[in-house]
Amino acid sequence: MQNFDFHNPTHIVFGKDRIADLANLVPAAAKVLILVGGASAEKTGTLAEVRQALGARQHSTFSGIEPNPGFDTAMKAVQLVREGGFDFLLAVGGGSVIDAAKFIAAAALFEGDAWDILLQGGRNISQALPFGTVLTLPATGSEMNNGSVITRRDIGAKLPFRSRHLYPLFSVLDPTKTYTLPLPQISNGVVDAFVHTVEQYLTYPANAPVQDRFAESLLQTLVEIGPRLLTATAPDYDDRASLMWTATLALNGLIGAGVPQDWATHMIGHELTALHNIDHARTLAIVLPALLQERRAQKHAKLLQYGERVWGIRSGSEDERVTAAIEHTRDFFERMGIPTRLSAYGLGAEAIDVVVHQLEDHGMTQLGEHSDITPAISRRILEGAL
Ligand code: NZQ
Ligand code: ZN
Repeated sequence: MQNFDFHNPTHIVFGKDRIADLANLVPAAAKVLILVGGASAEKTGTLAEVRQALGARQHSTFSGIEPNPGFDTAMKAVQLVREGGFDFLLAVGGGSVIDAAKFIAAAALFEGDAWDILLQGGRNISQALPFGTVLTLPATGSEMNNGSVITRRDIGAKLPFRSRHLYPLFSVLDPTKTYTLPLPQISNGVVDAFVHTVEQYLTYPANAPVQDRFAESLLQTLVEIGPRLLTATAPDYDDRASLMWTATLALNGLIGAGVPQDWATHMIGHELTALHNIDHARTLAIVLPALLQERRAQKHAKLLQYGERVWGIRSGSEDERVTAAIEHTRDFFERMGIPTRLSAYGLGAEAIDVVVHQLEDHGMTQLGEHSDITPAISRRILEGAL
């Protein structure tokens, strides 16, 4: 096991009817800016519930944060925060709204050009406004981590950043708030949480059996509940609760402590979203099976372990078992209704050059747990995903 620090200060407030707890969670004297996406928070009634729980506190709402939140939109909120003297942010939504809240929290107190936050991956953040979240879409884990991803559409860049100042103070996780999600968003959530777990697990053995088994339990849970979430005639509270908690645990630092991490699938996927506006999770389903195939030698031992413990693959030669593990992964994504080929989005070989150039432009030239996924290898991965 590698050395690590683990410190996660986010207070999780989990369960039915917990939005009412905002009355105690938000500081009484706070001047609150509520951040929401498009229309969903208003339509579902969640926004009204939040406003009611805030009681007499001064508050306003900033709406219009788009999926894959944009820099320009977030900067409008920064201006509002500064002009209005808001001192607490409350994100109500999915990963996009929460990621935007993190950026706004940092940028509002940042001196200089806020785009530098992205260029430096957040290393230049020294303070941020406090913020909490009300999660409405289980997927990204943003509700209990310190990372965020912001997009600049004018230059086709989608860049991650993180800072220890960007953990939410609290996150309210009410599984009933997922009942209004269209099924494709449920599929996205399952696949995103699955790939987050894989990126921190399917690398090479690091003598970290407890991290491995935590990761395998998250994967097994997603494999078990995923198809059921799609076929249920009515939302099942316990399955929704399991999805919510699994997605949070998949990226709150716990399973990644003390183990090697990959993240190449995410970095290549971000370029596909920036260039072609494909949903985040859908890009991961395209890249991961091809990446596992390309890196099957480097990931051999963990692919065998994953095949056996997650998919019950015990027979055949080692090579056959590795192939079966990769095929089970692809088949799972497809069963979740998520295509695993670039061609499903009308993209062919001609699309690959630009993606590779963007990876180079963004410094994504040494990806993976061994830092050995060069642009040439990213190209081979994308060719394998055609
Ligand atoms: O905009 P509204 O109207 O609110 O609709 C949203 C949006 O269109 C809708 N939605 C959310 N909750 C709903 C709902 N519709 C009905 N009922 C509800 N309860 O769902 C749509 C997608 O929302 P979005 O927040 O974009 O999805 P997601 O949570 O998948 O977030 C994706 C973003 O998170 C980033 C991704 O790159 C992407 O930008 N990620 C953030 C990470 C992090 N901070 O740790 C890690 C991830 O790997 C990921 O990169
Ligand atoms: Zn993700």
